[in-house]
Amino acid sequence: MRLVVLASGRGSNLQAIMDAIDRGDLNAEIAMVISDNPEAKALARAAGRGIATEVVAAKNFQSRQEYDRALAKLIRDIGPDYIVLAGFMRLLGPEFIKQFPNRIVNIHPSLLPAFPGLEAQRQAVEYGVKISGCTVHFVDEGMDTGPVIAQRAVPVAEDDTAETLAQRILKEEHKLLPAVLQLLGEGRVTVTGRRVKIT
Ligand code: GAR
Repeated sequence: MRLVVLASGRGSNLQAIMDAIDRGDLNAEIAMVISDNPEAKALARAAGRGIATEVVAAKNFQSRQEYDRALAKLIRDIGPDYIVLAGFMRLLGPEFIKQFPNRIVNIHPSLLPAFPGLEAQRQAVEYGVKISGCTVHFVDEGMDTGPVIAQRAVPVAEDDTAETLAQRILKEEHKLLPAVLQLLGEGRVTVTGRRVKIT
């Protein structure tokens, strides 16, 4: 299974994927890591492993559509089995999404459909929920609305801040994302409408 990973920042989920590959828990190859942020630590992590990297920065494009077109072309030329959004903070437009139906996977730090969008962990703390978690889902044209593949629950402590909760959720993200990618690689994930079955 060949993957393209899109990441905007720290890249700890990318690291978890690379580590799972190294351990032999994930049978995959990362063909390229692409970022919208030239400063992303994810790029350095990838380069350190000899993985090809590319920056597609918004400032070089006139419009969202142009950005999405350039990104889609780059990815089409690579022809990965899956595109993994690992902390990719840009919303991809419908033109992009349509080209890769059920081929784009995102990790989100809440139990969707609760707390979509930015700062999900802060939203959870401020709402006062007792359980949050993380979700790996296929990407559709909405914001964090695509079919859910897998979720892990994480308790919220009474004295949690957004930061302490984010740390606890992140530990689960690092297990969940590689595990889901392995299931995809094994062809064990089927989607019917919104419902995802793991066999
Ligand atoms: C992760 O917590 C991921 O779930 C979140 O950004 C963080 C990236 O961390 N993604 C979103 O909020 C997407 N809406 P990382 O760069 O260390 O993997």
